[in-house]
Amino acid sequence: MATPSTLLPEKTINDFPLPTRQAIVNSSYPEWYKKYRGITGKARLIPLTAEFLDYLKADGIILPPDTPVVPISDRDSGVFSVTNTDDSDGDDGDDGENPAQNFPEVHGAIIAAIAELGGAVYPKLNWSAPKDAAFMLGNTLKCSSPSDVYLLLKSSNFITHDLEHAFDDTIDTPDENGKILRLSDVEYALVLRKWVDVITSVEFRCFVMQRRIVAITQRDLNHYDFLEDGKEEFLALIQEFFARHLEKTFPEADFVFDVYIPKTLLTESRVWLVDINPYAPKTDTLTFSWQEILNIDPSVPGFKPEFRIIKKNDPEAYGFAQPYSAHKLPREVVDAAAGGAETMLQFKNDWKDIIEGLGGTGIDDNDEEGDGNGDGGGEKKDGGAEKTSGGKATG
Ligand SMILES: Nc1ncnc2c1ncn2[C@@H]1O[C@H](COP(=O)(O)OP(=O)(O)O)[C@@H](O)[C@H]1O
Ligand SMILES: [Mg+2]
Repeated sequence: MATPSTLLPEKTINDFPLPTRQAIVNSSYPEWYKKYRGITGKARLIPLTAEFLDYLKADGIILPPDTPVVPISDRDSGVFSVTNTDDSDGDDGDDGENPAQNFPEVHGAIIAAIAELGGAVYPKLNWSAPKDAAFMLGNTLKCSSPSDVYLLLKSSNFITHDLEHAFDDTIDTPDENGKILRLSDVEYALVLRKWVDVITSVEFRCFVMQRRIVAITQRDLNHYDFLEDGKEEFLALIQEFFARHLEKTFPEADFVFDVYIPKTLLTESRVWLVDINPYAPKTDTLTFSWQEILNIDPSVPGFKPEFRIIKKNDPEAYGFAQPYSAHKLPREVVDAAAGGAETMLQFKNDWKDIIEGLGGTGIDDNDEEGDGNGDGGGEKKDGGAEKTSGGKATG
């Protein structure tokens, strides 16, 4: 069991050491994937161009056709401007516009990657998947076309967080060359992972402090009987995996990693790395609170990490039933998404009207106030601690 030190005063969330920007970069998928490609799922990384990032950040959602586009060399010719509507900026609202003409390479790479990965992918950006936008595709992140990917990315506050708030609440200490990392230094990439029907009961989140696993939690916050009996085995598998692959090679001493440990009738349990997350308040601690984790002292003799799973009747007690409640959109938007393909098509067409109808409600997916309040993180349980800014729960 985790044993809080009895000699030192209890640490609070205010004692949380702010992560460095380099630590944030180190926990980004394109960084860790370089080293750990062999122990994680099959994926394609597509470097994102400035034009594609502009498309993601732009208001409104115009989805291009799912076919490749021929690059047009002169991007300044005005050829993408609106010709038959009263929009003056050409950013939205033109029926004839194909936004993918501004990012033909990315668009083509997405089409190719989906085909190479068997026809269905799970998308994410450097840190986050657009889980808060899953309702747009009928409550899944399974994408089988570029427009599925765009719809999720453009509807997600988690993605906006990656693009605009990744370095919020960090220490910007200069590196050995005196350089301070800026968001503009981040090499954004779209990660498309081969779609897997994940058995979420065997996904775990592991907290590493001073290069030791100090706590492990179930990720799926439902009760599963078999986890009670399997805990020791899962713990041993995770410890072995950590010692062999991560302990000495990950550049940070403090971090959070996610694993998936499936087992079938034909195959032994195997540990897969799913993600690495910053050791920071914005990383969701699930069944723990950061305050609890900060007070764990792994140097006590005989220390063993606590492996916390959901006991029968726990979910109600924790109030976990409403994930992403801070990201919920008004009824009409949810209804549109729940209404199937035809309704969604109508909804896509009506998107602009809907957004305008929501003016002033803070639903705007670009959080233009820049105060980070649009991104919430309401699903996070952290002993009631309020996050200050830019807080989205990774994972
Ligand atoms: N390739 C995949 N196919 C289907 N579902 C996936 C895949 N990869 C991850 N998931 C599911 O999505 C969840 C979140 O994935 P993760 O990469 O940790 O995103 P985030 O960092 O935004 O939480 C995982 O817990 C898993 O259940
Ligand atoms: Mg994550």
